[in-house]
Amino acid sequence: MCGIIGYIGSKEAAPILLQGLRRLEYRGYDSAGLAIQDGDTLARVRSVGKIENLAARAATEDLPGGVGIAHTRWATHGGVTEENAHPHTDQSQKLVLVHNGIIENYREIKEQLGSEHIYNSETDSEILAHLIGEHLLESTAPYTKEHLLKAVEEALKQVRGTYGIVVLHKDIPNCLIAARMGSPLVVGVGDGEHYIASDATPILPYTKKMMFLDDGEIAILTQDAIEIQTLAHELIEKEVEEIEWSAEEAEKQGYADFMLKEIFDQPTVFEDAIRGRYDVEEGVGKLGGLNMTDDEIKQVRRVIFIACGTASHAGMVGKYAFERLAGIPTEVDVASEFRYRDAVIDEHTLVFGISQSGETADTLAALREAKRKGAFVRGIVNSVGSTIARETDGGTYIHAGPELAVASTKAYTNMVAIILLYALQFGRAQRTTLATGQRLLNALLELPQKMNRILEQSDAIKVIAETYKDYEDFFVIGRGINYPTALEGSLKLKEITYRHSEAYPGGEMKHGSLALVDESFPTIAVMTKNQLYDKMRSNIEEIRARKGKVIVIATEGDDRAHELADDVIFVPETMELVEPLLNHIPLQLFSYHMAVALGRDVDRPRNLAKSVTVE
Ligand code: AGP
Repeated sequence: MCGIIGYIGSKEAAPILLQGLRRLEYRGYDSAGLAIQDGDTLARVRSVGKIENLAARAATEDLPGGVGIAHTRWATHGGVTEENAHPHTDQSQKLVLVHNGIIENYREIKEQLGSEHIYNSETDSEILAHLIGEHLLESTAPYTKEHLLKAVEEALKQVRGTYGIVVLHKDIPNCLIAARMGSPLVVGVGDGEHYIASDATPILPYTKKMMFLDDGEIAILTQDAIEIQTLAHELIEKEVEEIEWSAEEAEKQGYADFMLKEIFDQPTVFEDAIRGRYDVEEGVGKLGGLNMTDDEIKQVRRVIFIACGTASHAGMVGKYAFERLAGIPTEVDVASEFRYRDAVIDEHTLVFGISQSGETADTLAALREAKRKGAFVRGIVNSVGSTIARETDGGTYIHAGPELAVASTKAYTNMVAIILLYALQFGRAQRTTLATGQRLLNALLELPQKMNRILEQSDAIKVIAETYKDYEDFFVIGRGINYPTALEGSLKLKEITYRHSEAYPGGEMKHGSLALVDESFPTIAVMTKNQLYDKMRSNIEEIRARKGKVIVIATEGDDRAHELADDVIFVPETMELVEPLLNHIPLQLFSYHMAVALGRDVDRPRNLAKSVTVE
C-alpha cells in the first residue's frame, strides 16, 4: 500500500526522502515521487516503477532544500502513470500533497470546485490538493502556516473517506502540515529536525522518538516545533514514545532476501514473543495485556479470531488450541466476510483481531463492528502503535520485529505462539491440568533449538524445491492442527512462486479433489506423528494409488515415511499442539527456494502489498 515520508530540518531533504522511500518499498507500490521546497522554489520529481527510477531522475535535477515530502503509490484510482503518482499539486501549482487512503466523495468535491479547475491526474488525491488550495484563497497573501492550517482544516471538514496526508506550500517556508483519518501517520521527533511517515520504518535510522497520530488529528511541523491538534483546532498534548526496533533489525543482515532472513529469525523472535509470558511452575500462560478481570474471563462463552490471510491461519490454530485446552467454542472469521455478515455477537464473546501490520482495513473494520456489538475486543499485533493495537481494549504485541517481506513468516510463528499462550491461560482457568500446562510450556521452551534443526536443512530443502519447480499445480494437505499449516504452506507457495496450489484437510481429498491427482500434480503432505498419523498415511496412500508424487513432512525417526514419499523432510518430534510452530518452516523454505529458482521477486511478489489498508 502507499507510503509517505516527509522531512523538515537543516539537512538536505532529497537523500533522506529517497532513503525513506526505499525503506517503505516493502509495503508494495507501483510509482513514486517527491517534492522539495527551497526558499521560494518548489521542485517535484515523479516516476513509474522502482524507487531507483525516481532516484535516477532526481540525480539529474538540482534538488537543494531541507523541506520535502515523498510517496510510494499503490494504484487505486487511476492507472500506474507518472501523472497519477504523488505528490499532487493544487490549481496554483504551489501547494503539494501526498495522500494515503481514499477520498470517497471526490466526485462531489470536483463538481463543487467547478470547471475552472484543471486536473492532471485521475486521482482522488489531486482533488483534495485542489480543495485545500481553494480554501487557502480565502486568506490574504502573503500566506502563513496559520493560513495553510486553516485551509487544511476547512477542506478536511468536507471530505468523506480515509486519509493520511502531508502538505507543503511553496510560499510558506518551514512548514509541513499532516492529518490523519484512517491512514496511519507517525511523527519522528528529532533535534532541530522532524519527520513524518506512514509507519516508523523510514524514520528509525534517524530517531527512535515518535508520536503516533490518531484519527482526526493534525500535526504542524516546523524545524523546531511540533504542534498536534484536532480537526476542530484544539491543541493536544501528545506522548512521545520510544520505539525499540533498531534500524539494523530492518536490514537484511547478509541474507539474500528479507524473506529468508525473516525465516531464519524465527527461533530468536519466538523467544522474544514468549519471554516473561508464562509460568512453568503453574503451567500457565501469563499475558498481561488482556485487561479483563477474572470474572470477565469466566463470562467468556465463545472466542472468535478475526484476521486476513496468514493471520487467519494463525487464528485457525487458535481454534484447535482453545477448544482443546479451554473447551470454549471458537471460530475463525475472515475479516472481509465478518464485517458484512451481521454476526451474532454478545457480551460473552471474546474477539481477537490478529494482524502483523495492525493496519489491515478489513480486520480493523470487523473489529470495530464486533466492538459495536458489545464483544470484548483484543488485539494480537506486531506493529507497535498501529491502529488495531490502539483501537482494541487490550491484547498483546507479538514482538516479531519489523517484517519487511510481503510474505509473512516470522509474524505467523509469533501469532501462533501468543495464541497458544492465551489458550493455555484460558485453559488453566477451565479444564487444562497442571501437568498438561507444564508439558506444553516445556515443549515451547524446546522449540528454538528444534526450529534451528529444520533451518539447518535449508540447502537440502532447496534441492527438493528445485526438483519440483516446473510443476504448475500442487496440493498441500494436513489434518487436525496441521490443516492450518497446510493452508499457510499453500498460501506461501501461491504468493511467491505464482504456482497454483490448494490446501485440503487430508480426509477431504476423496470428496472431489482427488480427481485432479496424477503424475503432474504433486502433493505436499504434513504427516507428523500425532493422533491422526495413521489416517494421514491412508490419505497419502490414496494419492500414491493415483500416481501422485508426494513430498512428506515427517517426524524425525519415522523411517516408514520413505515408503510413501518421493521426498521426505524431517522435523523434530514435539507435542501435537505445538506442531504448527515447527511444521510450517519446511513449507516456508520450500516455497522460498522454489521462488528463487523460478527467478521471482521473493520479497515483493507481483500484485500484492504488505500492508493492505484499503478494502
Ligand atoms: C501473508 O503472507 C500475506 N502477505 C497476507 O495474507 C497477510 O497475512 C494479510 O494481508 C494480513 O495482514 P496483517 O497480518 O498485516 O493484517
